Amino acid sequence: MKNIAVFTSGGDAPGMNACIRAVVRAGISYGFGVYGIIRGYQGMIENDIVPLQASSVGNIIQNGGTMLKTARSKDFLTAEGRKRAFENLKQQGIEGLVCIGGEGTYTGAMVFEKEFGIPSIGCPGTIDNDIVGTDFTIGFDTAVNTAMEAIDKIRDTADAHNRVFFVEVMGRHSGYIALYCGIAGGAEAILIPERQNEWDGLVANFALKSRKKEFSIFIVSEGDEEGNAFEVAKRFQQVYPNSDTRVAVLGHIQRGGSPTAADRVLASRLGAHAVKALFEGKRNLAVGIVGSDVAFTPFAEAIKATKKDIPQNLWDLNIMIGK
Ligand code: F6P
Repeated sequence: MKNIAVFTSGGDAPGMNACIRAVVRAGISYGFGVYGIIRGYQGMIENDIVPLQASSVGNIIQNGGTMLKTARSKDFLTAEGRKRAFENLKQQGIEGLVCIGGEGTYTGAMVFEKEFGIPSIGCPGTIDNDIVGTDFTIGFDTAVNTAMEAIDKIRDTADAHNRVFFVEVMGRHSGYIALYCGIAGGAEAILIPERQNEWDGLVANFALKSRKKEFSIFIVSEGDEEGNAFEVAKRFQQVYPNSDTRVAVLGHIQRGGSPTAADRVLASRLGAHAVKALFEGKRNLAVGIVGSDVAFTPFAEAIKATKKDIPQNLWDLNIMIGK
């Protein structure tokens, strides 16, 4: 294998640039020529592929977003699109790929390998932390810190006005962000898709607290089965008509900003290990860090089993100390 390429795909996540930087610099030390594909699979199809040197990735480690841009390519879902992508890679002499993204990114890489034999190694890049085979995904820590800072600020207003705030955080089908920023932000209750019937606990908790405390912060994960933060707040207002209730939806601010040190270190480790894996002839694997060790999970498994649950001990912890 002489040349490899790196690309980002799906939703951006802070730390993707640190990962790209690690792939490029590790690739060069293993003797590879390294290319960057712009806008993920779409750029592969449109032949938007550029050679990268060590200097191309200077001064990007601190940046959110992705210098390679990202996209969710519809054309890559077609056989015709994938064939074009393969021909472009062949023409550039690219024989291995490092893809940075989530479940959809891994699925694309797996299908592509099956059809054209191009090996890929995946790095988990998503703020949701919903990918198996790694304790944390690139971007999760930054997203939690961003949400936590916002919650700290909301807390000032909640305190000043004696208000009840419902803060909605991202996570598609995953309550990880809600759980972590709920604990870190001192929320009284958290609503997440992995747990049902939290509503009764939330109401009971409020009844208990309202005797001694004048404001409350509840975190609602966007994927919760009770509905979004506005729906939950409305329901709450019906139970407590005298409460001064407000909603804050944090949205895409959670995806942006400079990555935390934890995300930069994680992304750098994953990027370098992905290149090493290609060098050793590995293929069709997602790289992760479990405990302090590097772990590899076949794409087929990583796709099938997105993290179905959150750690019970953290859930119990929040119930105990949120009261
Ligand atoms: O997967 C990352 C994520 O930010 C989810 O938390 C969220 O549900 C989704 O992407 C939003 O996607 P989009 O940016 O396409 O609206």
